[in-house]
Amino acid sequence: MKRENLIETELKLPLIQLNVPATPSAYPRESFEGHFIKKLLEGLKQSDSSESLFHLEMVGRLSEFLCEKLGKSTRETSEIGLFARLHDIGKIGIPREILNKRGRLTSQEFDVMKKHTDIGYYLLEGLKVSQEGLEIIKYHHEKWDGTGYYGLEEENIPQSARIVAIADVYDALRMERPYKNAFTHEEALEIILGDRGTHFDPEITDIFSHYEEEIENMYEAINVYTKADKNGKSVA
Ligand SMILES: [Fe+2]
Ligand SMILES: [Fe+2]
Repeated sequence: MKRENLIETELKLPLIQLNVPATPSAYPRESFEGHFIKKLLEGLKQSDSSESLFHLEMVGRLSEFLCEKLGKSTRETSEIGLFARLHDIGKIGIPREILNKRGRLTSQEFDVMKKHTDIGYYLLEGLKVSQEGLEIIKYHHEKWDGTGYYGLEEENIPQSARIVAIADVYDALRMERPYKNAFTHEEALEIILGDRGTHFDPEITDIFSHYEEEIENMYEAINVYTKADKNGKSVA
């Protein structure tokens, strides 16, 4: 399918409308930040990078779901959901040949790819963006045991980033990539549980595990539209 058609199809899908709060309290629409963030999301929506709109939507919704189960306020939930959708915004500064490479990255290419967290942070710092937002952009590749990009450990990793990390990995596991098949929900769950306390925050992993059926249903509800035909009608 031509890229133009693909975008057109995506834009017609009712479930994957970007879920930006109508009047995000921290970013009133008329503010520069509100306008900029809206434009960033629109830009991502039309991007042909490897991060699909479906991925952004799933990471956003799953992060919001985990926030609710952690008892976070509506404001925090919506803030984390918004920046979960922007988690890889720094990839706009990564060369296309690395971003869209078919196959595994070399270690040098991976070093370049890792810069996306700094680039994203650089893009947003200085704006009136919440601390949680900046932390998600910068720290979503941290691991509980300290082996992530910046080596932060356990609760030194901001909780917002720990939430987005698990949501990001779940959807990446479910996704087909040039170098791997898509994992089933059960396989992805097993991998995530196996990384409890190494990659992932044990508390958030336990919540994920407890609500895994709802998470699978959420995934299927969004994913069904990836199989939609050109008229936006599901063919799944
Ligand atoms: Fe990332
Ligand atoms: Fe991602």
